[in-house]
Amino acid sequence: MSSVRIADAFDPIAIAEAAQVIRDGGLVAFPTETVYGLGADAENPVAVARIFEAKRRPLIDPLIVHVADAESARRYGTLPAAALPLCDRFWPGPLTLVAAKSPPVPAIVTAGLDTVAIRVPAHPAALALIRAAGRAVAAPSANLFGRVSPTEAGHVAEQLGGAVDLILDGGPSAVGVESTILSFEGGRPVVLRAGGTPPEELQAVLGPVGIEVGTAFRPSVPGQMKRHYSTRTPLEVAASGARPEASCARIGLLTLTPAADASKYAAIEVLSPSGDLREAAANLYRALHRLDALGLERIVALPVPEEGLGLAIMDRLRRAAAS
Ligand code: TXA
Ligand code: MG
Repeated sequence: MSSVRIADAFDPIAIAEAAQVIRDGGLVAFPTETVYGLGADAENPVAVARIFEAKRRPLIDPLIVHVADAESARRYGTLPAAALPLCDRFWPGPLTLVAAKSPPVPAIVTAGLDTVAIRVPAHPAALALIRAAGRAVAAPSANLFGRVSPTEAGHVAEQLGGAVDLILDGGPSAVGVESTILSFEGGRPVVLRAGGTPPEELQAVLGPVGIEVGTAFRPSVPGQMKRHYSTRTPLEVAASGARPEASCARIGLLTLTPAADASKYAAIEVLSPSGDLREAAANLYRALHRLDALGLERIVALPVPEEGLGLAIMDRLRRAAAS
């Protein structure tokens, strides 16, 4: 691990310094309610290029533009009228909306698309940083491309240490999985990535919402790589009700609720003792980081119900398991 500087995200002096780093074209890792982001000035294409370099992320995978409120979003993109009630209801929060791109957004941010993904994060430090920088912050999750996303400052330091100018430590992320991405292309609402805002909540506002996640790799939807969010340790999602037999000596178990046969495994991570899917999402990446650090032969994940945040959890597990 390198000796990157980590500052308290709730310290106004650290926020002012981080904002200056952004304005100077540098990279700041910062907390959001979903996962930690790796931020740069969204209007500075050279700064944004450093994000791709640091993450070793392919340039075909577009970034999310983070703004402080719906009003500021208008500088960067035009949302369809149908999306406007969602801004009132879900921003700040774990919902990213795909808008028609406006000129201030450089092409590198959107990977050349004529649409731009925008969100208002629900974390006081993220909002303070964006406001202090005085401009939108483009940010992907602050992990190496394809790997498990960070929900703590330490996760960022581990994967990206030397490549960021400053890490703001705001404690563990409350939601724990990335934002839900919603597009209106073709005139109807479609979830492109399951995330922190459950589709049921979108449906309550919009009526029927299409869900196009977890489908095979579709180059037409950037960033929907089949293999993603991966541990270095091979991971498999057990079929419902099934358990790995044989010797479990070098196998780690990821389970929603406590397992009766826990002693068979080298390590076990329980996502929520009471089976609460929100709590499970908040703990998911930390649990994966922990199991991955143990040098196990395999990680077996037991499936969770695909409702509410369970949809996002299962999406991440399937992608982590894909080869
Ligand atoms: O919760 C989150 O969304 C976190 C925090 C840091 O805000 N960010 C995040 O960014 O997850 P990232 O880069 O890991 O994922 C961004 C994804 C892309 O991979 C792509 O799937 C989608 O957003 N995306 C970005 N721009 C898009 C566009 N114009 N159309 C469709 N999808 C887009
Ligand atoms: Mg990511």
